[in-house]
Amino acid sequence: MHVRIMLLLMLAMSLAACRDTVEVPEKAVFKEDDLTEDNEPLKIGFAMDTLKEERWLKDRKLFQEAIESHGLEVEIRAANGDDALQIAQAEEMIHQGIDLLVIVPHNAEATAAIVHKAHGAGIKVIAYDRLVKNADIDLYVSFDNERVGELQAEEMLKLVPKGNYVYIGGAPTDNNAHLLKKGVFNVLQPAIDRGDIRIIYDQWTADWAPEAAYAHMSEALNINDNQIDAVIAANDATAGGVVKALADHRLAGTIPVAGQDAELAAVRRIVEGTQTMTVYKPIQNLSERVAALAIHLAQNNEFKPTVSINNGKSEVPSVLLEPIAVTADNLKEVIIADEFHSEEEVYGKE
Ligand code: BGC
Repeated sequence: MHVRIMLLLMLAMSLAACRDTVEVPEKAVFKEDDLTEDNEPLKIGFAMDTLKEERWLKDRKLFQEAIESHGLEVEIRAANGDDALQIAQAEEMIHQGIDLLVIVPHNAEATAAIVHKAHGAGIKVIAYDRLVKNADIDLYVSFDNERVGELQAEEMLKLVPKGNYVYIGGAPTDNNAHLLKKGVFNVLQPAIDRGDIRIIYDQWTADWAPEAAYAHMSEALNINDNQIDAVIAANDATAGGVVKALADHRLAGTIPVAGQDAELAAVRRIVEGTQTMTVYKPIQNLSERVAALAIHLAQNNEFKPTVSINNGKSEVPSVLLEPIAVTADNLKEVIIADEFHSEEEVYGKE
């Protein structure tokens, strides 16, 4: 076989392997009497990027509860989107003697430095929700972010099979933003090629800031004379900025908008009709999986999932959980039944 064809085939096979979604073996690998040598309970460090979006407060609370439910300790820091601060906070936790580091990187590339430092101190590192690039990270646990983008585009294509689309992307420093965009275009590309869909505006949003998304959407409306048929925003925070810009032009509720995270504000917008869909990612599953695996790895046990993802440096053992598309039709069965938000929070008091 021609070498180039063989390489392409190998690439296709490895990409296909990346898309597998695996279930982690049943949770508790930890036994109550498992203590570190000096008989101190294991301590897990959680270096978060931001607490700005509603979801991260849930991640913090649920991860802490999951670790503590096993009788272990957790140290938590959040860096407010500051790379230098995130590195300093992780270093501080390493010096304080954590047994394993879990990180939500602000910047996929810059945080490689933390991985080197942790490994130098004999501490394993798990990437939580977002991948760290170009570092020998020990494990990556997230949702299938490419699938999130596909779910958004599938829903929008059902409603708007032809027309002008706007894409408001996430932060380019976050690997998830790239995966989401890939997923969106996996679905839209055939319609673009047929000439049914035109992407008339496509922008990243630094730090996922709603204000920046608002500015981009305002610009998209102005330069296209409001001739927009659908908007895909990378998350609910940016979708909020989009809906605000649409409202300025009295267009809120008339143009379908997609987001992700199932934030309360977004779920309410779905009820009132100004946002079309969101993607629900059960954070409890993520935090519990990571907590169980953190304990497993901190005790020097092996974990070899069938999925691995290349991060530019190595094949990172990975666990990808399933995201779920949410519209007004299944909101009750998915979001409320799962107690992600209460009926009262979503619909208000009767
Ligand atoms: C997460 C999203 C979140 C975004 C902004 C992404 O990496 O996957 O759930 O909305 O970051 O914090």
